[in-house]
Amino acid sequence: MLRLTILTCFLFVALSAAVNPNWYKNAVVYQIYPRSFKDSNGDGIGDLNGITSKLEHVADIGADAFWLSPIYKSPQVDFGYDISNFTDIDPTYGTLADFDRLVAKAKSLGLKVIMDFVPNHSSHEHPWFKNSIKKIKPYDEYYVWRNAKYVNGKRQPPNNWLSNFQGSAWEWNNDRKQYYLHQFAAGQPDLNYRNPAVREEMKNVLTFWMNRGVSGFRIDAINHMFEDSQFRDEPSANRPDIPKNDYDSLVHIYTKDLNETYDVLKTWRKLMDDHSAHTNTDPKMILTEAYASHELTVKYYNSGSTVPFNFMFITDAHNSSSAMDFKGMIDRWMKAVPEGKVANWVVGNHDNHRVASRFGRHRADEITMIAMILPGIAVIYNGDEIGMEDRNFTYAETVDPAGCNSGPARYYLRSRDPERTPYQWDNTTSAGFSSNNKTWLPVHSNYKTLNLKHQKAEYYSHYQVFKSLRSIKRQSVIERGELKVEVYDKRILSISRVLGNDTVIVMTNRSNKPAAVNISSRNVPPLLIVYAASIGSNLRPGTLALTNSLLVPKESSVLFTSLNIYWSDHEN
Ligand code: GLC
Repeated sequence: MLRLTILTCFLFVALSAAVNPNWYKNAVVYQIYPRSFKDSNGDGIGDLNGITSKLEHVADIGADAFWLSPIYKSPQVDFGYDISNFTDIDPTYGTLADFDRLVAKAKSLGLKVIMDFVPNHSSHEHPWFKNSIKKIKPYDEYYVWRNAKYVNGKRQPPNNWLSNFQGSAWEWNNDRKQYYLHQFAAGQPDLNYRNPAVREEMKNVLTFWMNRGVSGFRIDAINHMFEDSQFRDEPSANRPDIPKNDYDSLVHIYTKDLNETYDVLKTWRKLMDDHSAHTNTDPKMILTEAYASHELTVKYYNSGSTVPFNFMFITDAHNSSSAMDFKGMIDRWMKAVPEGKVANWVVGNHDNHRVASRFGRHRADEITMIAMILPGIAVIYNGDEIGMEDRNFTYAETVDPAGCNSGPARYYLRSRDPERTPYQWDNTTSAGFSSNNKTWLPVHSNYKTLNLKHQKAEYYSHYQVFKSLRSIKRQSVIERGELKVEVYDKRILSISRVLGNDTVIVMTNRSNKPAAVNISSRNVPPLLIVYAASIGSNLRPGTLALTNSLLVPKESSVLFTSLNIYWSDHEN
């Protein structure tokens, strides 16, 4: 009996010692877009075994966790964001057994797996939807169904709501003789969150994946979950410059950001916390995707989100943003983060042009540098660590529904194909992504020189810059150091972190002219060392810089550190 008690105590101590409540606080989260990451079976589409075979790369660049865009069973109308079975893997990507192998390998490499959870809608091929059409209980009210409106005897949708992918958000169903709501493609019917049975179903989905070893969820389009219960028309955005059926032509006060969303999120946070407590595992990470106002985004913190995606580098900052603009955006975020929570910085994702294309090749490393030196979590889209660029698509080549539905004159404004091309591993067939020379999206023609293998062999490359950033992010000065965001000479944004004798500074020259600044009077060591410099800059890591004349070449970003950090890091 005594022996059993000792053993139980030992196990308890061993298990609780393994829990790390702070694991996420300074994390790098890497987004993998499975269709485009690595194809293992030569069908031209990425898959789970492909991802598993490349997890060493994810570990090598120092990610703590990776988020997988959807791999669930899906007719692929929206490339996986239209799910016909929330608890199974699409055969294109593999099987549940492949998934388990991926999780096991991730674990052995110290990587956490985050799933994409798509609560707003299912696929129109989901059995729930098929049963809902037939009004089979309890599925009859699983979706948002409304009667038609008849104007002069002509059938019309119930109101003016528009889909994110153009045109009415309502689709007529001739069997049920009603319209259903779809805020995205017609193949993505909106689930009815006012129905408690739906909320319960979706909780079961979360539990299913947590039981399979996942460490959190990226919650897709969370702010679309609820709609106005009176189904009122939305007001016009007064945008004569865009077509009448374009999503941006209305102000979405009745279909987005409703208060009820935050309450549902709280129940998911509780479910995940309870799961972590029962299984004695690290806290689950929740990343919420809501393109919403700043106030409504940060509100997700207090409802359980670990990472309410901060999209400021995507939606607010652009190439002509001044150093002062950047300072304003960063300060606003830092001020808004509630006590005990951490900031986050999203560099890119599969819905927006790549960072190297938004800010230009020379500035590809700039945003990553800023994201990595600021306190909190950096979210990196696969390929951005090697500076991959958008590929231009013709309308005929376009496959993304957001592009196709916009028509030949406007597809390029909406299509997300440019940022989704296959990962460029090397200079062999299809950039080493697939043995097939025909891939689901064409490989970017720049792959012969822009690829991981090449950049690994180079002394000076995006990949090398990224690796330096990752190792600096692990230093206590970044974890805990004081933050100062300053502007010098109107052109230079300076972000510094200071802890005791350690100093780390990123300087970004937002202009096309070189600049030299004197910061020697600012309580910094007289000599700093160049730790990393963006590609295109002529500064080289390891060279010394005097703080009375710090040079920042045009369009460049430079990471300076005090000598103690540089040497200690290079000794390791
Ligand atoms: C999110 C996803 C996007 C998808 C949409 C509908 O915005 O990131 O790719 O098309 O939701 O699920």
